[in-house]
Amino acid sequence: MPRSPFLIVAIDGGAASGKSSSSRTLSERFHFLHADTGSYYRALTAELLRRGVTPTDLAGVKAALAAVTFTTRVTGRSAEIELSGHTIPDAEIRSAVVTAHVASFAAIPEVRTALLDYQRSQADTARQHGFRGLVMEGRDIGSKIFPDADFRFFLFADPVERARRREQQGLHDQVARRDTLDSQRLQESLQGAVLVDGTHLTLAEVVDKLAAPIAEKFAGP
Ligand code: CDP
Repeated sequence: MPRSPFLIVAIDGGAASGKSSSSRTLSERFHFLHADTGSYYRALTAELLRRGVTPTDLAGVKAALAAVTFTTRVTGRSAEIELSGHTIPDAEIRSAVVTAHVASFAAIPEVRTALLDYQRSQADTARQHGFRGLVMEGRDIGSKIFPDADFRFFLFADPVERARRREQQGLHDQVARRDTLDSQRLQESLQGAVLVDGTHLTLAEVVDKLAAPIAEKFAGP
């Protein structure tokens, strides 16, 4: 029997496009490590804010980046980021203040560079922990982090529907504002990716669309 391949699945998409829920479900279905890179940008934002750094203070950003180390804690199927050995509580990384600042910090090239190799290293982390693959979600995974991923999906949904989903989650989020700040990366991510419009689909239906080609690849020729 040939060994089954180790697969890398990149899921890009905008705010509240359904990428987190579908990535998590795929990780369960195929025993993949799940990396939510939005949570990495959020954790780093929380850390920068804790240090009193603002997005316009480039010198402060650079000094803070030089002082922080990035490591990973694998919890279940989730690859969580540790900043200088500590994870940041979920309530803090999902807080309104972090949500309001994250896209501005994420637009700083030094911030993106600081996370680049770290995100790529998750493939080795997944292998070391015996996972069958890595599913990584974010804004630029298929375009910048893993352009050679086995699968590159781009999830999108109507902005009105996305704002409604956020409200249903009880979250106040400026989806349109973050989309604008993130728009260049979104454009790049579209190229060569398989587009999935989730506006009128349930989560299960989105997952089925993503899972079908992955299951086929595992089944072999
Ligand atoms: O709330 P949503 O799922 O859209 O966002 P998220 O995945 O938690 O990401 C929060 C923010 O981090 C995004 O608005 C982007 O500004 C930034 N981000 C990024 O620039 N690149 C990534 N690969 C992931 C997130």
